[in-house]
Amino acid sequence: MAIAFGNSMNSTCAAPLWALIAFVVASCGAGSQNQSSESTVEVFSWWTSGSEAAALETVFSAYRRTFPETAVINASIAGGGGSAARPVLQTRLVGGNPPDTWQTHPGTEVLEQYVAPGFAAPLTDLYEEEGWFEVFPDALLNMVRAQGEPYLVILNLHRSNTLWYNKPLLQQHGIEIGTALTHEALFAIADDLQRQGVTPLCMGDSGIWATGIMFENTLVGVIGAERYLGLWDGSTQFTDADVRQAIATYARLLDYLNKDHAALSWDQAVDKLIQGSCAMYSMGDWVYGEFVQANLEDDVDFGWVAHPGSEGTYLLVSDGFTLARGAPNPKETREMLRIMGQRVVQEDFNLQKGAICARTDCDRTRFGPYLNWAMDTYASGVLVPTVIHGSAAPAAFQQALNDALTSFVVRRDENAFARTLAREAAMAGIGD
Ligand code: GAL
Repeated sequence: MAIAFGNSMNSTCAAPLWALIAFVVASCGAGSQNQSSESTVEVFSWWTSGSEAAALETVFSAYRRTFPETAVINASIAGGGGSAARPVLQTRLVGGNPPDTWQTHPGTEVLEQYVAPGFAAPLTDLYEEEGWFEVFPDALLNMVRAQGEPYLVILNLHRSNTLWYNKPLLQQHGIEIGTALTHEALFAIADDLQRQGVTPLCMGDSGIWATGIMFENTLVGVIGAERYLGLWDGSTQFTDADVRQAIATYARLLDYLNKDHAALSWDQAVDKLIQGSCAMYSMGDWVYGEFVQANLEDDVDFGWVAHPGSEGTYLLVSDGFTLARGAPNPKETREMLRIMGQRVVQEDFNLQKGAICARTDCDRTRFGPYLNWAMDTYASGVLVPTVIHGSAAPAAFQQALNDALTSFVVRRDENAFARTLAREAAMAGIGD
């Protein structure tokens, strides 16, 4: 099963079909590598939307400026949230054919899926050489460490619980959103918009995780940060009254979505928002990256507010890169990771990505109004981990939640949904 990926284009292009999928962008594609190169580094991710690809390219350009002789293999697989990429990655890791480095999320995802089975190598020496123990916040370091050793270079911090809106569209319809919103106020706005013939909420959940973000945001907004954290240590149950209230609120939100939501990707729904064919979108600030790509102006072309009820909470979605144990190109990979941790690289990357730096010493003045707001809410808010993007709970529960959501958006059986989540949480050992 294991395939020895060589350093040349030819060996890659001769690989079987499943392996080729992992090389769509670079190996046989549009030339993100120098064909005469002797050395390579393969970077595996799911960053293929306009902003994601542009952001990733800032890292690759920085690498190429320093190491022009090394070919960067951009092994990205389309599918927001890594829905398509992660199964391919798993097959490669189990088959002994790892990419040099891969994208993953801090917390349970990196620690349980990649560190515990021995797929990732520790990065303590790199952290020490670069002084990273001093510039990454402890809260984050704790999410990437096992037995004291860090296993991930963290690139960004996304805020997941943001409600975006098309500002000119709302203005045209006589609606203004202030600095905070309740769910009741959101429903009133949505009803008003609907009466005026405007689709209130945008969604692109061809990948179920995207509606999962709206669910997660609603959960935090209704039950609050402390009770939300309790879901992951067992002190809050999915069948508790406030969680049921959150489920009911989420069900109401589903009534206001664009009809074609299940056919669209998350970024296609951003296009709809930009075009004004729907008005508001509860989604992580990778949306902001798409606004940057479209040259939109903060607070003019679009506005934002915390997802209703979640002011004071920062729902964290962060991305980082590993070093594969047995990486085919360890030297080149370490240099790639070193570059990912540099301050200027993190600034350049995050300006495109719509996120803030994981480092604490980035230059705020380079970032616009939204990202400065995100930095303030990060600094002052209660930090809570995402379950949808793998940080809060074991993979088995994450998968069960996605399955339960798939059924819920169709059947709307609130009791069954709550009971299923409670049962799955227990089966995943949450609270043991
Ligand atoms: C998340 C990732 C973000 C963003 C999003 C949509 O998993 O952490 O960086 O890209 O998926 O693809």
